[in-house]
Amino acid sequence: MKIIEVDLGDRKYPIYIGNSILSDQKLFDEHITSSQVLIVTNENVAPLYLKLIEDSLSKINHDVLILPDGESTKSLDSLNQIITCLMEKKYSRTCILIALGGGVIGDLTGFAAACYQRGVKFIQIPTTLLAQVDSSVGGKTAVNHPLGKNMIGAFYQPCAVLADTNVLSTLPEREFSAGLAEVIKYGLIRDKPFYEWLEENIGLVIKRDNEALTYIIDRSCTNKAEVVAEDERESGVRATLNLGHTFGHAIETALSYKDWLHGEAVGCGMLMAADLSMRLGLLEQEQVDKIKEILVRAKLPTKIPKGIKLKQMLENMKVDKKSRDGVLYLILLNDIGEAVITSDYTEQALTETINHFLE
Ligand code: NAD
Ligand code: GLY
Repeated sequence: MKIIEVDLGDRKYPIYIGNSILSDQKLFDEHITSSQVLIVTNENVAPLYLKLIEDSLSKINHDVLILPDGESTKSLDSLNQIITCLMEKKYSRTCILIALGGGVIGDLTGFAAACYQRGVKFIQIPTTLLAQVDSSVGGKTAVNHPLGKNMIGAFYQPCAVLADTNVLSTLPEREFSAGLAEVIKYGLIRDKPFYEWLEENIGLVIKRDNEALTYIIDRSCTNKAEVVAEDERESGVRATLNLGHTFGHAIETALSYKDWLHGEAVGCGMLMAADLSMRLGLLEQEQVDKIKEILVRAKLPTKIPKGIKLKQMLENMKVDKKSRDGVLYLILLNDIGEAVITSDYTEQALTETINHFLE
């Protein structure tokens, strides 16, 4: 088992990564210090992994709330359901919530933990690759508003993250690839040796080789933990974790958040960011070609879906959260392993990049 510390002073917490760690009763005994424990999960994950967790909780008293599957569960209604459940069962401030699921359950449960009685403990048990390498680490919690994703939320850190590679065996292929986009992202923005390892070993990763999975989750979480420890509230370097996201969000918005998974949009967006970096003289064409190759091998799309127009992309990008005083800052690459946050690009180069990726 690997243990990574997220170093946030008195709010520091461990990320445990390994095979079958969810059967380790000692881990649960160590972190569950309350007799009031609520597991929040969904209808898809519960039949797969709830019993495993309940067995490991052994004699620890607990309740379970099973919510519907899907992004629509990340809502104020679901938040209210969790709070109502806690109040009906007379949970006190010393209770602990456990988020068992992907990013939807993790973001929602984390936000409920941040809100209930002004903050109670919570543990993340991420079950998608995306959640294991990204959303369960770093304390961004939120629900969606009908007018915008993640618009109601808080920075609120968990007290532990338990990432078991075994649970990835049941993850659908597209969900797995979507998580891989975020893994590749860490290599591109700040870890060239990891990126080079991925180039060599992406075949093993795709086969979900257990050692390879442990390694990519370890490297991803180590990178994310370092960034979060330096800039918890995204006033600087944390924004580099959004490589590909501005292009990706523009695609997701044009698709009304249907058809493509977030990680798929991020994958294509990262390639677009690399292409723009090349047009600005920061990267070589050969480096961009190699990024495309690894994305294709990870089974991620590398073209904007048919029907989306240049104007739509440009308009959608302008309302991105990374706009400041009307200026759109982009995360680009100075080199492989070196991201930069910049508004130093021309409209013409941006247009050329988008046109290059239109079907
Ligand atoms: P998700 O939670 O919807 O999970 C994807 C699908 O996989 C769901 O159908 C789920 O039921 C299923 N699933 C989960 N674990 C499984 C398993 N082991 N086997 C089989 N099926 C399984 O989606 P996600 O991609 O995990 O997360 C997306 C969410 O994460 C979005 O809401 C996004 O905004 C958020 N997010 C948050 C952060 C953050 O920093 N907090 C970062 C990235 C994304
Ligand atoms: N997923 C980006 C971040 O946590 O900052």
